[in-house]
Amino acid sequence: MRHTDLGGKVAVVTGAARGIGRESARLLAEAGAAVAICDVNLEMAERTAGDFRREGLEAFALPVDVAEEASVRTMIADAARRSNRIDILVNNAGILDPASVPEVTAEKWDRMLAVNLRGAHFCSREAFPHLARNGWGKIVTISSQAGQYGGFLAGVHYSAAKGGILALTKAYARYGAAHQVTVNCVAPGFMLTDMTRDRNDDPSIIPLKRLGTALDAAKAVFFLSTPLSDYITGATIDVNGGYYMR
Ligand SMILES: NC(=O)c1ccc[n+]([C@@H]2O[C@H](COP(=O)([O-])OP(=O)(O)OC[C@H]3O[C@@H](n4cnc5c(N)ncnc54)[C@H](O)[C@@H]3O)[C@@H](O)[C@H]2O)c1
Repeated sequence: MRHTDLGGKVAVVTGAARGIGRESARLLAEAGAAVAICDVNLEMAERTAGDFRREGLEAFALPVDVAEEASVRTMIADAARRSNRIDILVNNAGILDPASVPEVTAEKWDRMLAVNLRGAHFCSREAFPHLARNGWGKIVTISSQAGQYGGFLAGVHYSAAKGGILALTKAYARYGAAHQVTVNCVAPGFMLTDMTRDRNDDPSIIPLKRLGTALDAAKAVFFLSTPLSDYITGATIDVNGGYYMR
């Protein structure tokens, strides 16, 4: 279907070695995109890219710490050099910290904001000229339920960073519109991934009566990465089983 055909497109997905990033990268690759599996854990990223290639998908691994400007610059330049273009950026890399308010030191605050918020800015800023060049581009950010109503399982610094992502998305959407680069956000709820494995979330509190999966979130990322969403920008899709309704 032409609205979901990503043949000839190149996607950069951060934090793609596992979880939501991995499933997003897989859906993009299955639609025909060449996908850069970018992660701070290069070994895991290489395993993921290798798995995809064995399935006949086009994928390659790149190291990045999204919190570090120089690292992001190198990663985007490498991705562009390798493929000659970048069409889609998924700002998925993130960390979680359940620290309670008195435990959130300056150091914890700074690291959280650096990875979960500043990283999305660095990646978007560096990828933007490539996305704009072809007159069609997609940036997808990942916020969280915690950024929408204040998480009770995540620290205040996590909620603050993810709330920042909601605003960053709108600001970049305004910036990108003149170049037909759309910028949208996915806000997952209680998703079962390695990040949340030890949290023991209770599915009975969720209207759809199950925890989300990485694939559930990835499907929304996919929608926002394809021509299906070309007239949508600055929006956030909630993927939370109905737990938080706006
Ligand atoms: N799992 C959930 O319930 C949930 C809910 C809401 C939002 N989210 C968000 O979704 C995104 C993905 O979460 P997940 O559950 O798949 O987590 P995950 O921990 O399974 O995967 C995160 C990936 O990001 C990578 N990463 C971490 N720090 C990085 C850095 N500085 N630079 C580059 N890569 C880095 C990790 O190595 C890992 O591969 C995160 O932004 C997270 O905050 C998750």
